[in-house]
Order: sequence, then structure tokens, then C-alpha cells
Amino acid sequence: MTAERLQKLIAAAGIASRRAAERMIAEGRVTVDGEVVNVPGVRADPALQDIRVDGARLRKLGRPRRYVILNKPIGHLTTRSDPGRRSTVMDLLPHSFRSLVPVGRLDGNSSGLVLLTDDGELAQRVTHPRYRLPKTYYATVRGLPAEDVLERAQRGVRVDGEGLRLDHVEVIARFPHRAESKRRARLRVTLRGGRNREIRRVLSVLGHPVLELHRTRIGCLADTGLTPGGWRKLRGDELDELRDLIRRCAGETAAPAEPADPEPAAPSARPAAFVVAIDGPAGSGKTSVARAVAERFGFSYFNTGASVRAVALAAMRQDLDLDDGASLRTLAFRVILDPEGRVFLDGEDVSAAVRAPEVSAGASRVAVHPELREVLVERWRQFAAGGGVVEGRDIGTVVFPEAPVKVFLDARPEIRAQRRSSDEGDRDVGAVQSELNRRDHTDSGRAVAPLRRAEDAHHLDTSDLTLEETVERVAELVEAARSRALD
Ligand code: DC
Repeated sequence: MTAERLQKLIAAAGIASRRAAERMIAEGRVTVDGEVVNVPGVRADPALQDIRVDGARLRKLGRPRRYVILNKPIGHLTTRSDPGRRSTVMDLLPHSFRSLVPVGRLDGNSSGLVLLTDDGELAQRVTHPRYRLPKTYYATVRGLPAEDVLERAQRGVRVDGEGLRLDHVEVIARFPHRAESKRRARLRVTLRGGRNREIRRVLSVLGHPVLELHRTRIGCLADTGLTPGGWRKLRGDELDELRDLIRRCAGETAAPAEPADPEPAAPSARPAAFVVAIDGPAGSGKTSVARAVAERFGFSYFNTGASVRAVALAAMRQDLDLDDGASLRTLAFRVILDPEGRVFLDGEDVSAAVRAPEVSAGASRVAVHPELREVLVERWRQFAAGGGVVEGRDIGTVVFPEAPVKVFLDARPEIRAQRRSSDEGDRDVGAVQSELNRRDHTDSGRAVAPLRRAEDAHHLDTSDLTLEETVERVAELVEAARSRALD
């Protein structure tokens, strides 16, 4: 074994995350060959040196543990080997990963994220209900579940003598149809435990059999960028993040193990949502930055501007008057934001359609109506109730004034125009700039929700920064706010 940085060795021994190990070092709790090392970056070789944390020797490190995430396609079993010789997730990995074990179960008919490792301790923490690590699933179900059905799923049901419940379930899109048998809904489900086929069994007993089930997240790990059947090794920072999250989740008050019988559940005292609010004028880089920050931390991402745009699109499709606030208000109920930054109108994914220049102009007009804003603000709060990166106007001032991270992105007008023009397929920069100027003027000058920076927001001029540099700055603010929240 060659010399490695101390924080890396401490993290690899499972004592603490790298960040926590850095703090331990700074606090003088780490010694190498009897000498306290309290400066960062020192390397040591555990095979040759005596490394101790709080006086206890770092256990001898064997082969480093390995961690892989994989996007399981339907039809593969989540097991190391199948006596019936059916395909398993192991068939998707190179032979050298044969010693890894899939963590938890994802049934053959479901698809999505699977973690594989030879670290039994971490595997136990990811799956055991005591650690309460959330996993996120998207389910397509038969029928259109009513509100009380979702409540029952969360309160708990008894199936074959077993108490089962979903920690959180919400409808993100409804697909109505004249024929009852063809109605469908798309649900987002969070599970913190996970008994065998729990989502399928709960929803089926409540009359909404699951037709498709896909897992997108295990804690902060996401399937983003993995094609079906694709896999990759986890990075060290992702692993640190996961360990931190497990520690924090285990610290939250656990829900009762057995579900209560069908009485109204008392509202649970949920910790305040961790919201990262990002605002700024058009072309300041909000969307790219918000998306990248969400991806980096495994947070949900909500693009509120897209919902304003979707209202404009709906109004334009129906030839409604864009200045009639009262009729626009009802359109807001047909728009859904999902936590991956997409926007749906009546169940149709309109994320691309709302970017058209004429929709941008319409959005700027509809955004000023107080009747519409009132509904939108309430919906944004509901969509992002579980926290995440929320991009848009008024987020830091009105929607989530308590957000622990608020960023106001800005850039010089000519830079913003250039960025917009390349977003829109290299449209004439001059034309884009005059449109931006017009929108800036309407957006800043309007009486309702004018474009302005929250007093406690960090002002970040991105004119001379690359996207990576901007994301890095915002990530630092997120890290700092998270450390404050954990203290
Ligand atoms: O950020 P964007 O360009 O997608 O926003 C579209 C329009 O909606 C723009 O005129 C600003 C407005 N908007 C708003 O009023 N409130 C929000 N929370 C988000 C956007």
C-alpha cells in the first residue's frame, strides 16, 4: 500500500466522512507514529506507520472496498446468481466485479438504480429501516388515485398480515381518459424502509396496480446519465456524501415501525426543507447552475419559470387573453413541476415547448397577475416541500424567505444576450439583446414581484466565470449552510 492522505485513510476505514476526518485532524485527534498531525494534506502509509484516531489504531486496511451504481433494466434479477439461470444484474458487470453484492432488492419487473458493493456495513445501513435512508421511485399506476387513497398509503395498510406503508407519495401527472380502464397516473414515491415489493403491494391493495416502477435515487445517489444497463463506479465524494446522509437520516426521529390503523395521522414534525433559492435576470445562467448544483448534491430541482411559461403556453394554445388574470389562474392547476426540472401540462411533458421565444414573451406578460401568482406560489411551495434547488423569481423573497441558501446570479447584458442566443440555436445576438432589455424592463419595473435581490442573497456576477466556477461558488455556499444546519 502506498501513502495516502490521512483523511482518505480515515474515511476508507469507515470512521468518518472525509470532511469529518479533516475536522478531526484539525482538532489534533489524529497521530502518526506518536506525533499529532493537525495540518491538512499529510500522507501516511498504514502498512508502515502507526496511525491513530483518538488513540485507537486504524484497523489494518485490506483490499479497498468497491462501490458501483447500475441502472437495472426490466427483466434482470437483483441477485448474485439465479438457480433458474435467468439474467441477473451481475451479467451487466465485467467479470472483475463478480465479488460485489447488490444492496437491497429491486424486483425483476422494475427498473432503475441499484447499488453494488463488497462493503457489508454500508449495505446494511442503506437497506435497514433503522437508518431511514430515503429511496425515490416513479410509478405509473392504473386509475387516478384520490387524495384519501394517497393518505392511506402513507398511514399504512395491512397486506397478508404485514403492516406496509409508503413514507411519501404524490401524484406528479394525471392521464385522464374517457375509458376508465385507460386512466393512468404517475406517482413519485419515497420509501425509507422497503419490505419485499412494498410499493406494488400497497398500491395494488388500494386499487391502483403498478404498471411501471423505476427507482431514480438511493439517498443522494441518482441514476442521472446512466443508460439502461449502464453502470459506473462511485466517486469518493459521492460516498462521503452518502455516509453523511445516512448519519443524518438515522438521527431524525424514526416513524413507528408498524403503521397505525386507519385514523387520521397527526401531522409529523418535519424538519424545515433545505431549499437553495436561485434567482436572477434572463441569461444569467440560472438554469444551468441550478441544474448542476442539484445534480452535484443529489437534490431535487424545480424550475418555477417553466411553470409560468407553461401557463403562457396553455393560454396561447387556447387563444386566451394573456392579460386576463382570473382565467389564467385556473390554468395553473393543470401545470406540474417534477423534481428533475421538467414541466408537465395536462400530463404532457412540455419542457422543450416552453422554451420557444414567443412563449418567453407570453410568460413575461402572464407573470404579472397577482391572482395567478397566488396559486403558483402555493404550488411551488408544495412541489418543493421536501427541499431542493428552486429556481425563479421571488423564491428567496416570497416563496421560501427562510431558504438557508439564496443566490442572485447576474451577468452583464451583452454576455446574457450571447448566452441566450447560443441557447436558441445562435439566433441574432442583437435581436436577442433587445428582447432581453425589454424583458428586463418589464420584469424589473412591474408592480407585482419585480425582479429584485433578497437582502440576504449572495450576489454572484457570472460574466467572467465559467459554468464550473459558478457551480463551485454556489456549492461552497451550500456546504457552508449545511454545516451550519448540522451544528
Ligand atoms: O426564468 P424564466 O425565463 O424561465 O421565467 C419566465 C418568466 O416568468 C419571466 O418573465 C420571469 C417569470 N417568473 C416569475 O415571475 N416568477 C418565477 N418564480 C419564475 C419566473
